[in-house]
Amino acid sequence: MTLLLELRNVVMYYGTSKGVVKAVDGISLRLNRGEALALVGESGSGKSSLAFTIIKLLPRNVAKLGGEIFFHDEELGVVDLMKMKDDEIRQKIRWKKISMVFQASMNALNPIMRVEDQMVEPLMLHLGMSRDEAVKVAQEALYSVGLSKDVMARYPFELSGGMKQRVVIAMAIMMRPKLVILDEPTSALDVITQANIMNLLKDLKRKLGLSYILITHDIALASEIADKVGVMYAGKLVEVAPADVFYSKPRHPYSQKLIAAVPSLREEKTIEHIPGDVPSLINPPSGCRFHPRCPYAIKGKCDAEEPPRKQIEEGEVYCWLY
Ligand SMILES: Nc1ncnc2c1ncn2[C@@H]1O[C@H](COP(=O)(O)OP(=O)(O)O)[C@@H](O)[C@H]1O
Ligand code: SF4
Ligand SMILES: [Mg+2]
Repeated sequence: MTLLLELRNVVMYYGTSKGVVKAVDGISLRLNRGEALALVGESGSGKSSLAFTIIKLLPRNVAKLGGEIFFHDEELGVVDLMKMKDDEIRQKIRWKKISMVFQASMNALNPIMRVEDQMVEPLMLHLGMSRDEAVKVAQEALYSVGLSKDVMARYPFELSGGMKQRVVIAMAIMMRPKLVILDEPTSALDVITQANIMNLLKDLKRKLGLSYILITHDIALASEIADKVGVMYAGKLVEVAPADVFYSKPRHPYSQKLIAAVPSLREEKTIEHIPGDVPSLINPPSGCRFHPRCPYAIKGKCDAEEPPRKQIEEGEVYCWLY
């Protein structure tokens, strides 16, 4: 397996009037070429913030940024995205090597601009293509997501939700990136359309050799495509494991709760509810951030010391029980 992306101790905090939000707090993780990593966790755990940190699209109120993000590429060699200047990221990385389907992006398509113009302009701008070349590339991208070229002449308001999401995915793959980050790509869609989009993503992964980071709070959906699952809790990674291991034998108490909360994956009759809320990331709990909600918390240990990374078979878990 060839390494594509390696995060080492990545940190990103936001500054707010209420204090510093520790949204991404020391994440280390590896992704191989052709692999799909599902990044799961309750809302507010820092998943989107981590995605924006990787693709370096950050708001002005970033208070701290640190760690290393190594991207392995045939053309560029091994580069640390954290060290690259914004210009360089724009010229060499974003959309061309790493692209992103933003949360709710299908609703962010400009309703009064034809699909053709929305697709062609970035190609002309970022790749310096002529309009004719760009139209050809856009048509091919639409074709690969199962849309005909007629869609080019349409306005987004003339398209169904599923078609709009396909357009957005076409835009994310049209510059032939190696890695696509998908942030809740199906959450606004009905169940059938969700399934169709997941099938499309599987298909594209296989045909184009893409790697994915699929962000979702829906771990049942993630199971359809994930080779590997990473669980985030309160700005930290708590477990990473191959998907089969994760779904059959989750190790971290939080992962176990997440799985127990999914109707289709649980074995017992009652759906478990995870008591309590995701903590504030301004003043996160001491020690293990999950300790106030954890049924196995060890007094004097879990509330005092942060659990280190522990390798178990093919996975990694951050918990004092191991
Ligand atoms: N631009 C921002 N400024 C300040 N805080 C933010 C900003 N964006 C997100 N946050 C906060 O960062 C934390 C993580 O949010 P987010 O990354 O969106 O989580 P997730 O994607 O897992 O739901 C939350 O507490 C959220 O309120
Ligand atoms: S470290 Fe302690 S509190 Fe945290 S998940 Fe493990 S047992 Fe629970
Ligand atoms: Mg999010």
